[in-house]
Amino acid sequence: MKFHDLAEANRSVRRFRENERIAEQQLLKFIDSARLAPCGANLQLLRFTPVTERKHCSRIFPLLKWAGYLEEWNGPEEGERPPAYIVIHAPIEERRHIPVDIGIAAAYVVLAARESGYGSCMIMSFDENLIEKAAGTPEGYHPFLVIAFGVPGEETVLEEADGGIRYYRDAKDRHHVPKLALYKLIVPVKD
Ligand SMILES: Cc1cc2nc3c(=O)[nH]c(=O)nc-3n(C[C@H](O)[C@H](O)[C@H](O)COP(=O)(O)O)c2cc1C
Repeated sequence: MKFHDLAEANRSVRRFRENERIAEQQLLKFIDSARLAPCGANLQLLRFTPVTERKHCSRIFPLLKWAGYLEEWNGPEEGERPPAYIVIHAPIEERRHIPVDIGIAAAYVVLAARESGYGSCMIMSFDENLIEKAAGTPEGYHPFLVIAFGVPGEETVLEEADGGIRYYRDAKDRHHVPKLALYKLIVPVKD
């Protein structure tokens, strides 16, 4: 897939085919793409935990908060929950580039997954102390981002924002994601 097509296809997915499991080896391939990503001073400070076993997934799942804009929805039901996760751990030390490194690594991971036919959702709303225990965060690190993976079990629709930017579901239960038009993002250089 061409890069722009991949970017278009890569919507956040929150309902999966839970029974279509992902092998750890598959997640390691996605992490291997992140290994090659640029990072501040080439320090390579991030660490990654692949989670694929059912018992480990069911420890992580209740700690996550899903789709804040969908107020009536309590997250994926049994049978549509993610069959795999990657937890990204970052050093506790303050360095300005670390959140940038995490964003780049996460983008590489989810685009690698999308290219292999998997959907994903980055999740930052979670109880950090409990995820730390559930994922085995190393000493001196904290869990910064959880990424859920699986074969998509929902349809997503990319559309141009016409007013609001809140994602929503339509009568057919399709998930719509409004994105601002390109010209709205461009700030021209001053003469
Ligand atoms: C840094 C970051 C944190 C996010 N945290 C959550 C989250 O806690 N829960 C959730 O359901 N989605 C989360 N998302 C997914 C966003 O809601 C999603 O990217 C956004 O609605 C745009 O949809 P799209 O990914 O399909 O473009 C997060 C995304 C990013 C990049």
